[in-house]
Amino acid sequence: MPQLTWLVTGCTSGLGEVFIQRILARGDKAIATGKGNTNRLRALVDAGARAYSLDVTASQSDINGVVAKIMEENGDIDVLVNNAGYIEAGLAEETSIENYLAQFETNLFGVVKMTQAVLPHFRAKKAGTVVMIGSSGGIGGEPGAGPYCATKFALEGWYDCLRQETAPLGIKNVIFELGFFRTKIMHPDNVKTFRSEHISDYDDMRNLVAGFVQITNGSQPGDPKKAVEIMLDVVKGEGVAEGRELPERLPLGPDVLKTMRKRCVNNLAICNEWEDVIRSTNVEE
Ligand SMILES: NC(=O)c1ccc[n+]([C@@H]2O[C@H](COP(=O)([O-])OP(=O)(O)OC[C@H]3O[C@@H](n4cnc5c(N)ncnc54)[C@H](OP(=O)(O)O)[C@@H]3O)[C@@H](O)[C@H]2O)c1
Repeated sequence: MPQLTWLVTGCTSGLGEVFIQRILARGDKAIATGKGNTNRLRALVDAGARAYSLDVTASQSDINGVVAKIMEENGDIDVLVNNAGYIEAGLAEETSIENYLAQFETNLFGVVKMTQAVLPHFRAKKAGTVVMIGSSGGIGGEPGAGPYCATKFALEGWYDCLRQETAPLGIKNVIFELGFFRTKIMHPDNVKTFRSEHISDYDDMRNLVAGFVQITNGSQPGDPKKAVEIMLDVVKGEGVAEGRELPERLPLGPDVLKTMRKRCVNNLAICNEWEDVIRSTNVEE
């Protein structure tokens, strides 16, 4: 396969950082972007990446400006990886609208803005791949993850529409739905935990979730390097993806496989158990 140029968001840690390292290791060109000063991306630059400051919550015109500069200085982009994100841990009722909005600004609208900035170039050349980093939280909800799950479910819906709208224009899309992977996402510096005013009825539930976040941080079963290698294989049609069609979506991790299977089985059971009722709602002609 010819050398590809990848633009990745959120490269100051975790999966984004690993993406850049492994893209370079495969001989492709890597454009690392991250919030704040590009000094934070120094190690990736030393490894051969180009670095740009890019906060995905910036205005559309600012984001378009950064993407235009990237293309001016590096030529065409072949793959956009919408990776930047964080977890707003909060209970559904307790979380303030401001904290919901902030979560959507990054995890959903950041993806929308980045994709809208890159698509004109992809449409012009009738090629390019948009990668979404989804989550098991976009397949099934868990207590304390309402704001995060809402964004990842929304991402799934938006992605499904985008994929069908852009496929006839020669553009490929894929969403990877990750289980728990050992990055800094649940580190106390990164996860926003129960920032809104507390309602005492939920004290036990909040404590349960806080304990789960604490225990899970640093002991997630998933290896980010393994996930990234598979995602690169899938986009490039190499390795584990050799001879397979680009999947619409791909869960990664045994934990998310369980979540997806449970969701499918539950949905099928509802369809079967309630089919007569479900079918009974059309207007009588
Ligand atoms: N790790 C998992 O278990 C898991 C599971 C499912 C999905 N995911 C998804 O994977 C993606 C990467 O997460 P990770 O696990 O690698 O977590 P991470 O280690 O915390 O990295 C998240 C990255 O996103 C960046 N970021 C956050 N807000 C941003 C913004 N407004 N603009 C630009 N960059 C921003 C962070 O930058 P700062 O350091 O500046 O905040 C950081 O570089 C996320 O979309 C997450 O939802 C992760």
